[in-house]
Amino acid sequence: MNFHTRKWVRPEDLNANGTLFGGSLLRWIDEEAAIYAIIQLGNYRCVTKYISEINFEASAEQGDLIEMGLVATHFGRTSMTMRAVVRNMITRRTILSIEKIVFVSLGDEGIPEPHGYSTITYARDRMPTTHPKTGTIAVPTAGEERR
Ligand SMILES: CC(C)(COP(=O)(O)OP(=O)(O)OC[C@H]1O[C@@H](n2cnc3c(N)ncnc32)[C@H](O)[C@@H]1OP(=O)(O)O)[C@@H](O)C(=O)NCCC(=O)NCCS
Repeated sequence: MNFHTRKWVRPEDLNANGTLFGGSLLRWIDEEAAIYAIIQLGNYRCVTKYISEINFEASAEQGDLIEMGLVATHFGRTSMTMRAVVRNMITRRTILSIEKIVFVSLGDEGIPEPHGYSTITYARDRMPTTHPKTGTIAVPTAGEERR
């Protein structure tokens, strides 16, 4: 599992107890999982379908650094399942782990569409080159450099 994203716990991310607000953490995880799904399934139209039990095991305080890790555990026909772990980089404790986060790849009509992948990519080879809302080509294709 790669821990790509790190966050600094800021005052706006605290609950009434003065520790990390669970809602902020879930927002970060969902965003991270969405980006991971786009990279793995090569489709901007990936939506959260299912999140399994979330057990907050430890917390974080203002100023702490946390890191989020994701890994694909199953490629279905239209879906992909991931596992997530969030750690406190200061205390080194696991804040939470989620066994299953399922994202579904959608077609233009908004219905599930087969993605055709069965293994993890560690490159950017599946990145979509067009954005469905704007139709613009925003991502350079392999070998091209952004000017
Ligand atoms: C995503 C959505 C289009 C799927 O519709 P659906 O009728 O469940 O579609 P399907 O039954 O064809 O299932 C699609 C995939 O999801 C999987 N799936 C469906 N329900 C699931 C569940 N409860 N848990 C895990 N996977 C599930 C199916 O196994 C299937 O995967 P596969 O093709 O890899 O086998 C629909 O549920 C939806 O629009 N949900 C809202 C998504 C959203 O807006 N999320 C953002 C947060 S609000």
